[in-house]
Amino acid sequence: MWLHSHMGHLEKYDETLARDPMAAFGLVREWMRTEWRELFAELRERRPVFATPVLTVVTRFADVTEVLSREEVFTVRAFGPRLDAALGGPFMLGRDATAMNWRDKGIMQFVLDPGDVAGVRELAGRLADEALDAAAARGEIEVVHELFRPVALGVCAQYFGLPGPDPQTLSRWTRTIITDCFANYLGDPAVQAASVEAGAEMTAYLRDELEARRAGRGPSGDVFARLVASGLDEERVVVNMAGLPLGFVESGPGAMVEATEQLLLRPEVLARAVTDDDFDRYVWEALRFNPFFKLLPRICERDYELAGTVIPAGTFVLAAPASAMFDAAVLDEPDEFRLDRPRHHQLFFGYGHHACLGVHPARAVICEAVRRLLLRRGVRVIEGVTRANGIFPDRFVLGLEA
Ligand code: HEM
Repeated sequence: MWLHSHMGHLEKYDETLARDPMAAFGLVREWMRTEWRELFAELRERRPVFATPVLTVVTRFADVTEVLSREEVFTVRAFGPRLDAALGGPFMLGRDATAMNWRDKGIMQFVLDPGDVAGVRELAGRLADEALDAAAARGEIEVVHELFRPVALGVCAQYFGLPGPDPQTLSRWTRTIITDCFANYLGDPAVQAASVEAGAEMTAYLRDELEARRAGRGPSGDVFARLVASGLDEERVVVNMAGLPLGFVESGPGAMVEATEQLLLRPEVLARAVTDDDFDRYVWEALRFNPFFKLLPRICERDYELAGTVIPAGTFVLAAPASAMFDAAVLDEPDEFRLDRPRHHQLFFGYGHHACLGVHPARAVICEAVRRLLLRRGVRVIEGVTRANGIFPDRFVLGLEA
């Protein structure tokens, strides 16, 4: 027993692998959820490209960015069918290096004008303060559903031009589709069917909205209006508009919760953050200690040598930005909370061909929502974070001073 408790993850893994390969993989899956920092530290050091019976995990910064830069080798083919089934047509995150990727991403980058960011930040701040004011008298707030999701949904409504029939319905659509695409590892048919149904509702809604806008009804100046004016055909407008809440409503509040939780764990850092003009860097450094996207899945299309290890064609690969952002080959003192981390060491928004389309507005909205919350007096944890499927934050109760 003494020996056992002092064994590293790899010794325990290898020992289990010899007896029961699936049990060994089960250990890895559990460690990636609960002890990812310790596991990844060991892997970076001893087995940086880690092949298990089910999938291969890539842990060093240089290798993670190489995988994400080689879209013709490491493809998103695993997402494609799921996204297509929900959206009724191809979407950039389900294809690699096609004319559609190039054209749609270019047009979407254009309609998500980085010049909008100051206005989007103001909007997010206003929405956050309204939610906080409404909760203050009660002395507490459940930040996922009373603050962060309402902020994300409000940005969808007012900036993207996509309010949905109502916020609850839009919120249900995104959770249902994203759960199938990114958390339905075993391919549960009921989860898939729910996603297809939610996608059909969302795209039908968007087709109606598009028709109304083409008939001259509806607001001007939002992202939807610009996309309608871009000349893209109906299917492309609908699929790309659907991609906006899908990209934002889970990952935005997810990042807000994780950054907030990490800052509340560091009271002395938090005290400095709220009086610092450059608040955002506290958010990004906090998020590094629990990134919302820890692993990005790819399929290896041909035998490929990575850092001396051959990854065979057909392998399911997880590139691990959460590990890369602790790689001492790139970051100074990776285990320390430091405010001088350069942006090119941050992989919260992916890297390469599929790097996040919404990065500019998302950065501003995340930081402003968290800032408005933490500027309130007496913020403290009443109930820790609960996560659906171990991924999507669903409940986090904080106390506020009235
Ligand atoms: C305005 C809000 C957002 C929108 C509209 C959006 C949209 C998208 C889209 C369409 C893609 C796929 C790009 C492609 O395939 O070329 C993408 C990728 C990505 N986004 Fe976002 N996103 C948003 C916010 C966020 C947030 C808040 C995070 C995380 C904190 C995030 C993290 C990522 C990551 C990691 C990828 C890469 C996925 C991969 O390589 O597999 N995004 N985003």
